[in-house]
Amino acid sequence: MGIRVAVFGTGYLGATHAACMAELGHDVVGVDVDESKLTALRSGEVPFYEPGLSEVLRRNIEAGRLRFTSSYAEAAEFADVHFLGVGTPQKRGEFGADMRYVFAVIEELAPLLTRPTVIFGKSTVPVGTAAQLGALARELAPDGVDVEVAWNPEFLREGFAVKDTLHPDRIVLGLDPAAEGRAEDVAREVYSDLIDEGIPFLVTDLATAELVKVAANAFLATKISFINAIAEVCEVAGADVTTLADAIGYDERIGRRFLNAGIGFGGGCLPKDIRAFMARAGELGADQALTFLREVDAINMRRRTTMVDTTKRICDGSLLGKRIAVLGAAFKPNSDDVRDSPALNIAGQIQLQGAAVSVYDPKAIHNSKAIFPTLGYGLSAKDVCQGADAVLVLTEWEEFRKMTPSEIEGVVRRKVIVDGRNCLDPSVWRSAGWSYYGVGRS
Ligand code: UGA
Repeated sequence: MGIRVAVFGTGYLGATHAACMAELGHDVVGVDVDESKLTALRSGEVPFYEPGLSEVLRRNIEAGRLRFTSSYAEAAEFADVHFLGVGTPQKRGEFGADMRYVFAVIEELAPLLTRPTVIFGKSTVPVGTAAQLGALARELAPDGVDVEVAWNPEFLREGFAVKDTLHPDRIVLGLDPAAEGRAEDVAREVYSDLIDEGIPFLVTDLATAELVKVAANAFLATKISFINAIAEVCEVAGADVTTLADAIGYDERIGRRFLNAGIGFGGGCLPKDIRAFMARAGELGADQALTFLREVDAINMRRRTTMVDTTKRICDGSLLGKRIAVLGAAFKPNSDDVRDSPALNIAGQIQLQGAAVSVYDPKAIHNSKAIFPTLGYGLSAKDVCQGADAVLVLTEWEEFRKMTPSEIEGVVRRKVIVDGRNCLDPSVWRSAGWSYYGVGRS
């Protein structure tokens, strides 16, 4: 018999975690307040694009190990172990994270608990939150019911969510010295298959566990902005940032991964996490420590305006009345997520400067239309390239990497291609008579 688990929140993190806990053999209930998400999940449909997840979801629903509910009372009655996986978006007009959903779970769940419980937090939170949640849960739980909040950050990448959950690089568990002390044993049982596989299991205090998560994302963001800053220098010096990244990447201390120059990072995590990290450090009196992240953010945002400027320059100095084809809208390939997507942001800016922009993405059109209804959309790369003065590749989907000049050259007005992700072979396009522009490439 598996462990009885409840997962609160059924977004990218929660839905994946719930399905993967069931895949490990546990009995799982996923909980959310959004009935439309629950309806989709119950019928085995994932409300977002994530390769492989719907198979895991369906398999476990059919096996009777996974179900979904909006009832906290039902979840509290059913489960011995709770995972908290709701969102912590950026506050409107501020750098800090909006913690209302996280606190709401504890406020609603704790009074309903009937027996000793461990709540594992997975959401990305400002350091200090877990201790507060633990104190709150103990205060709200019925008399005589022990409740312990531990922190177990999630490191999954969209597009690899199932693999990253079932075979993570590491498991981190932060424990509260003020609590009963069952959390480590429970975590070892929940993750026993992963631990047996040899995945490192690190036990820390709560603050370290919370900080591991934001520090990891801050490091990744810094690595990307580092190479994008170098790309700016390469451009003025006539050097090639891709070859440079290959060369420095051979140094194992540096490593080649996350050194792809381009239009920068976006998505629901990296941008908001570095901002929330800065805000929290400031609150704690360590503002100077993270001022470099302001620069990381600024370099990243500058990639977007630079791409708009490049497009304008190659369109003879004006975007007015030009037709621009945009290939890619998702913040990265293998995802339909357009939250803070650099591609869509650039498409929007170009349109605002008077161009007619037509966007194609293999998976993200539906979500793009919801936030940018005024952009033009097409059904294929060829479709949006009709009459284009420039073709912009802004998300490196395999489909665009493999695209040959012959597929679109019959339909464009000018053979101009801008490679915002340095994912094309310049020699292929140039030898077919195209003007090719990359990032940090002469
Ligand atoms: C990121 C982290 O990689 C995960 O470890 C973390 O768990 C997750 O955030 C989270 O906090 O939930 P994700 O947002 O799925 O995962 O996306 P990444 O693969 O990190 O890519 C982020 C952005 O960086 C994308 O826009 C991508 O195009 C860009 N990027 C990535 C680059 O511009 N260059 C690179 O070399 C790599």
